[in-house]
Amino acid sequence: MDGTSTTFFTKPELTAERREFYGRLAARNTAPLWEVLGAIIPPEPRPQAVPVLWHYDDLRPLLMEAGRLLTEKEAERRVLVLENPGLRGQARVTGSLYIGLQLIQPGEVARCHRHVTSALRFVIEGSGAYTAVEGERTTMHPGDFILTPSWTYHDHGNPGDVPTVWLDGLDIPIVNLFDTSFAEHYPGEIQPNTIPDGDSLARYGANMLPVDFTPDKPSSPIFNYPYSRSREALDRLGRNGEPHPCHGIKMRYVNPVSGGYTMPTIAAFMQLLPAGFNGKPYRQTDGTIYVVVEGTGRTRVGDTTYDWRPRDIFVAPSWAAVAHEAQSDAVLFSLSDRPAQQVLGLWRERVPDA
Ligand SMILES: [Fe+2]
Repeated sequence: MDGTSTTFFTKPELTAERREFYGRLAARNTAPLWEVLGAIIPPEPRPQAVPVLWHYDDLRPLLMEAGRLLTEKEAERRVLVLENPGLRGQARVTGSLYIGLQLIQPGEVARCHRHVTSALRFVIEGSGAYTAVEGERTTMHPGDFILTPSWTYHDHGNPGDVPTVWLDGLDIPIVNLFDTSFAEHYPGEIQPNTIPDGDSLARYGANMLPVDFTPDKPSSPIFNYPYSRSREALDRLGRNGEPHPCHGIKMRYVNPVSGGYTMPTIAAFMQLLPAGFNGKPYRQTDGTIYVVVEGTGRTRVGDTTYDWRPRDIFVAPSWAAVAHEAQSDAVLFSLSDRPAQQVLGLWRERVPDA
């Protein structure tokens, strides 16, 4: 079953009599399953998403141009959607996820709203901007992983003096698959700052929980996972042992309450590929978006090879064989819909034989 999948179920011959019959079926809003069975139940994943890479250097000037053309107030959120070429016009990067690059200029405020769709932010460049979630602000530094879980009020502001750019990752296609989208504005432009900065990280992110804490939502109560901490852990683990033959040193971000993923629909990971790493090919059913945080290298995705450098973004569709190589010590952040696949019993991987 390796390589390009073929149609597993064969289609009967299309005779003139059958064609006429199918026409009458269509008139009654019915259809012959045997004509479409192979297409709708392929023997292995056949994603419409294709491998793709965006060099950040190509996108940044366009993002800055958007910053001149539209105010953040006109746009609500000034974002360039990164569309998969196999899913053009659908605001999707994989079948189930959306990503975009958001710019907030010095002095700007992106007004407060909330929606059922869950969002993560991965900070690409800049310093001094903040994201506020449910009354608490966090300053955004490059490499920070920030959550705005489903139906939480959030706004962004940039009181600093340089542009800030981050990657947005949302489960928009999943929410719309179920037709469960709701969204609304906060009554004011920004929400009141009612919780001191850093409170969530101290309360939930120090390997302890408040003694009487009872979680009331499935997402993590931490909403900023700072890069400084993630990087330190990877650095130590990289020095302590052998990397995994496919993944290098790969960690997943967790909800400290459950040990599960940080949000129910989107998983996030960070991995260190030591200089000279030459990974074996690996397949997984969760189509994955990678953001290069540090280092240079290349990744083979199916038949395509991408050379990457910091801030580049690339996509591996479901079940594509992925193999990473690192020229220098490299750090990749990634996100996928793995939690949703796992809770539905759909997720599979294929690790090469040792
Ligand atoms: Fe939002």
